[in-house]
Amino acid sequence: KSIDLIAGARPNFMKIAAIIDALGAAAETQGSSLRYRLIHTGQHYDRAMSGGFFEQLRIPEPDFNLEVGSGTQAEQTAAIMVRYEKLLLEQRSDLCLVVGDVTSTMACAIVARKLGVPVAHVEGGIRSGDWTMPEEINRVVTDSITNWFFTTSETANANLRRAGVTDDRIFFVGNTMIDTLLTHMPRLRPPLFWDKLGLEPGRYFVVTLHRPANVDGEQQLLRLLRAIADGTGGLPVVFPVHPRTAKNLRALENQMPSLHYVDPQGYLEFNHLVRHAKGVITDSGGITEETTVMRVPCLTLRDNTERPETVSIGTNELVGADPVNLGPALARLMAGQWKSGGIPDKWDGKAAERIVAQLSRLLGVR
Ligand code: UD1
Repeated sequence: KSIDLIAGARPNFMKIAAIIDALGAAAETQGSSLRYRLIHTGQHYDRAMSGGFFEQLRIPEPDFNLEVGSGTQAEQTAAIMVRYEKLLLEQRSDLCLVVGDVTSTMACAIVARKLGVPVAHVEGGIRSGDWTMPEEINRVVTDSITNWFFTTSETANANLRRAGVTDDRIFFVGNTMIDTLLTHMPRLRPPLFWDKLGLEPGRYFVVTLHRPANVDGEQQLLRLLRAIADGTGGLPVVFPVHPRTAKNLRALENQMPSLHYVDPQGYLEFNHLVRHAKGVITDSGGITEETTVMRVPCLTLRDNTERPETVSIGTNELVGADPVNLGPALARLMAGQWKSGGIPDKWDGKAAERIVAQLSRLLGVR
């Protein structure tokens, strides 16, 4: 039996890496005959957003690259669907495995299901309830046609049950993104600018921003950056700039001397920065899971999250998208008043192993 592993955008690569490792381990130690082909949709294509992750995480070259590139939501969805459909019609697969909530996830799930190929969704069931996020639409559409759900939390399980999914299709396995983090923790390394910026453990901040609501309007972005600079007491703030954000940032550069704009970082460098930071300020979802596991204070610049356990159990706090809330939250952090947090159930580095075991059973392979 052979499964398609779909990866398209940066936050997919660390999730798929763990699954590929687990498939390799099953083949080696148990002689598993479960095969896979890796399909890169090409949604993210820059070295900094894609190729570098393949090298650092030792992900094999994709078997197919659909090379869809940039575009509007509809353009990307359509291009991925047309190209993946062609591939599946020429060479069928026994299962389509998608991860996360990016456009590639939804597009490939639709194609597979319509061709009668079962769909497995890793990180299924999470919900922000925020319909302004393209990711929320991707999640709901994907889950509405998913056969088997591999979930990261009890909240996800509950969301699925509420939507009428029966328990025999829900597998609470843990978090493959955390598998990858734990695997590569010993290899984390400082970025080349570490000394040049005079970074010291516990004495700098990390910022990432890429949500349209925060970065597409110059005024909102500027207000957020001012609030960050004002609230961090002159400590260096390292800001790896996502391509989407870069478009609006040029005009704002160099207005605040403690903010250091750098290129999107490699996996090993970025997580080294996070691990030793005093705090992380972000509008990402995945990063709030990594900060939880590394027990680093995290301030999320959103009003909602699809990962509530990072708040209820972990080190994350929803500060909200309004920059006025940032000052008081940062003041608490600077004063050393932040929760130390715990680790959610099954975020133990074994999620991918559990996924492969279930897939083997579901597909009837040894
Ligand atoms: C996508 C995901 C989001 C994820 C984020 C991580 C969707 C709906 N959103 O958002 O969930 O958190 O990736 O990065 O799938 N660009 C480049 N080089 C690249 C890739 C993109 O320059 O390699 C540019 C594009 O031209 C575009 C912008 O960055 O202008 C945004 O890229 P896009 O893939 O549309 O969505 P993201 O905002 O990255």
